[in-house]
Amino acid sequence: MKKIAVLTGGGDAPGMNAVIRAVVRRGIFKGLEVYGIHHGFKGLIDGDFVKMSKGSVGDIIHRGGTILQYAHFENFKTVDAQKQAIAQLINAGIDGLIVIGGNGSFKGAEKLNTLGFPTVGIPVTVNNDIAGTEYSIGFDTAVNTAVAAIDKIRDTASSHDRTYVIEVMGRHAGDIALWSGMCSGAESIIIPEADHKVEDVIDRIKQGYKRGKTHSIIVVAEGVGKGIGRELGKVIQEKTGFDTKVTILGHIQRGGSPSAYDRMMSSQMGAKAVDILVEGSKDVMVGLKNGKLIHTPFEEVVKDKHTLDLSIHQLARSLSI
Ligand code: F6P
Repeated sequence: MKKIAVLTGGGDAPGMNAVIRAVVRRGIFKGLEVYGIHHGFKGLIDGDFVKMSKGSVGDIIHRGGTILQYAHFENFKTVDAQKQAIAQLINAGIDGLIVIGGNGSFKGAEKLNTLGFPTVGIPVTVNNDIAGTEYSIGFDTAVNTAVAAIDKIRDTASSHDRTYVIEVMGRHAGDIALWSGMCSGAESIIIPEADHKVEDVIDRIKQGYKRGKTHSIIVVAEGVGKGIGRELGKVIQEKTGFDTKVTILGHIQRGGSPSAYDRMMSSQMGAKAVDILVEGSKDVMVGLKNGKLIHTPFEEVVKDKHTLDLSIHQLARSLSI
């Protein structure tokens, strides 16, 4: 293996740049030429490649977003597009590819492997919803962003005796809601992985006010249903008469400077992906299990479901009484 390439697919997440840095620098350290592919899978089939140098990834370890950029590209699902991508890689003399992204990106990566092109993945998404790893880069920063926002909301909620419903990201997963809800002391945390009853949420708000609480914080994951935050806020306001506000945190959870933990994971997983590609591994995603770096076949990553620790949900319930 002499030349490798790297692309960022899917939505950005804090730490993506730190991963690009790690891949490029580790590759050069190992004596490889490293190419960056602009605009994800679209850039791959367009041959939008640029040779990376040590300096080209300087000053990015602390930056959110992705210097390689992203472009939405539905067509990569077709075999023609996949073959065109491989032709571009071979044409540029590239022997191996590293895909940084989430579930959608790894479906593309798996197809490249199936067609014979050695590809390795690195899990990066704020959702933390990827099977085959206990951690996806970006999650820690997103949770910290959500917690910081909820802390601020709590200040104003307390001053006005208000109930706040705060909708957080996660696509189909409740991880951001669970962690940010637990860490901000929310009265209720509503996630797709566990049933909820509006009556129960209301009951907990009423109990809290009865014992003198001056605010109520309900954290809900977007994956519970489209428009769930507003819907829940409306029902609570109608059924309790309490002054209820809704805040949808949205894309602030995707941006910003990565936390130290995300930079550490980015550096370790980025380097590991290069090392295993050089050693001859392919068709796998790097991941974390019991604190150790591992790699899992893409087939399992795309087939299996990410799970969340529901005992944390129970614990949060028992602590917010
Ligand atoms: O997958 C990351 C994520 O931020 C999800 O949490 C969210 O549902 C989605 O992306 C938003 O996607 P877009 O930026 O394309 O609107």
